[in-house]
Amino acid sequence: MFDTVTLGAGGEWHQLAMPKGQLLTTAQGMPVSDDQNSLKAGPRGLVLLEDFALREKIFHFDHERIPERVVHARGTAAHGVFRLYESLAEVTRAKVLSETAVDVPVFVRFSTVAGNRGSADLARDVRGFAVKFYTGEGNWDLVGNNIPVFFVQDAIKFPDLVHAVKEEPDRGFPQAASAHDTFWDFIALTPEAMHMVMWQMSDRTIPRSLRMMEGFGVHSFRLVNDAGQSTFVKLHWKPALGCQSVVWDEAVKINGADPDFHRRDLYEAIEKGDFPEWELAVQLFSEAEAEAFPFDHLDPTKFIPEELVPLRRIGTLTLNRNPSNVFDETEQVAFCTSNLVPGIDFSDDPLLHGRNFSYLDTQLKRLGSTNFTKLPINAPRCPFATFQREGHMQTEVHKGRVSYSPSMLDPSGPRADPAAGFRTFPASVSGATVRERSASFSDHYSQARQFYLSQATTEQDHIVAALVFELGKVETLAVRAAMLGHLMVIEASLGRRVAAGLGFDDDVPAPPVAVEPVDLPHTAAVSMMANP
Ligand code: HEM
Repeated sequence: MFDTVTLGAGGEWHQLAMPKGQLLTTAQGMPVSDDQNSLKAGPRGLVLLEDFALREKIFHFDHERIPERVVHARGTAAHGVFRLYESLAEVTRAKVLSETAVDVPVFVRFSTVAGNRGSADLARDVRGFAVKFYTGEGNWDLVGNNIPVFFVQDAIKFPDLVHAVKEEPDRGFPQAASAHDTFWDFIALTPEAMHMVMWQMSDRTIPRSLRMMEGFGVHSFRLVNDAGQSTFVKLHWKPALGCQSVVWDEAVKINGADPDFHRRDLYEAIEKGDFPEWELAVQLFSEAEAEAFPFDHLDPTKFIPEELVPLRRIGTLTLNRNPSNVFDETEQVAFCTSNLVPGIDFSDDPLLHGRNFSYLDTQLKRLGSTNFTKLPINAPRCPFATFQREGHMQTEVHKGRVSYSPSMLDPSGPRADPAAGFRTFPASVSGATVRERSASFSDHYSQARQFYLSQATTEQDHIVAALVFELGKVETLAVRAAMLGHLMVIEASLGRRVAAGLGFDDDVPAPPVAVEPVDLPHTAAVSMMANP
């Protein structure tokens, strides 16, 4: 049962009894006699190049790091199951949304957006909430955030947004913090970001626990039924523990005392069987209903108040197993908005279309080979058959002569099936090729105001305090003033309070706006205090 193991260079000292384990081998399977002492020319001599076991060990170690994600680098994840309890068969042919009482395996990765892999958990930041459903019809990825809207309306602005929010390139800081000039410089010149900024400055971006966050698919998607009819859908995750946050002073203290606070909390809850749960809820609406909304649902800076389209809760997500290995699973998982199943399709949201390109592209760089889809965490759990061959790190050994279609040579080879397969919804397309968006995309302030005014007084106080803190870190006075101008448009009382907090004596002039904000009715869903 026990082996005597020699530690230390002298050989005869530090003899330890260790439990007899598996035989240690090289990557080639050759049994290793000593993995602690390299081969030398005499006890005091040079290390010999001949020591292939030493070289193999160090060679592999030298290549252990891969690029971290360009955004959402810091993440933590868990396995679980999704169980549908109310069928949406009338609006979608997707089995994952129509067959009830089936346990669909899932892998969920939560993340912060801006910070690097080693940054602190409680940064004031948006949280990623990415879910991979391993369905019987292939993998469906719902790659969402804990906020239902986004900073920009068009993917072409995403690199600018991220360059502005990340650490400043000439100094390498701040990390994982929006409180700096380049972020607010970009935001002050990007009025479409104002709605998201209100959410970002609210308590939503300093969650108490990842188990206590909502999740949102953000974009409208299409559901398509057996008859080929389309219904739009927004997807939401509602936590069983309610939506809860810490306050900023707590966040600062926790970041210092335990920068792994969120990942530890999630890990420990799952280890002790206290499994986190969310309900999946949908907002369903037709093209005609969408036409009547006072905004364009294809604009990802707008959300659909629950008063306008009520939520329908349809299933439960339970996280019940921690990853066995963070690199193999949490780091190598590759979510992509274009991983769909038959019965779910895209809307024409321009941000979504850019994402469909970006994820696959970045993952080729990050994971190093098109064959990353075959890694255990990314591979479908249903039978799959493609004609994709070769490429770096091919792990399958394909059989036969035929790796193409059509072919008569292999009667049992893979065949496309118009009935079972994914069919793009035949939406009508019209209009000239332009870079402009529909007029309602230009109303940047009405929903920002609606969000702020729908908050409880304490929540409004926290937004004011967050803005004073954040803008107080901005050294460029013109940027502060421009932001105050936007706040005056959103809601004059908000603008004045932040101006006073920053030591501005007078009202700051509001910028001319393309579309005057309108007063929208309060919406209960956005206040964590009114809607615990
Ligand atoms: C990563 C959400 C917009 C590019 C992620 C992740 C989430 C997310 C949750 C982390 C996935 C993981 O855990 O591995 C969102 C949401 C968006 C949005 C909700 C807006 C509604 C965009 C846009 C782009 C983009 C517009 C680019 C045009 C990326 C990239 C990654 C990423 C490149 C890293 C992916 C990887 O390395 O695996 N996003 N994102 N995102 N996102 Fe987004």
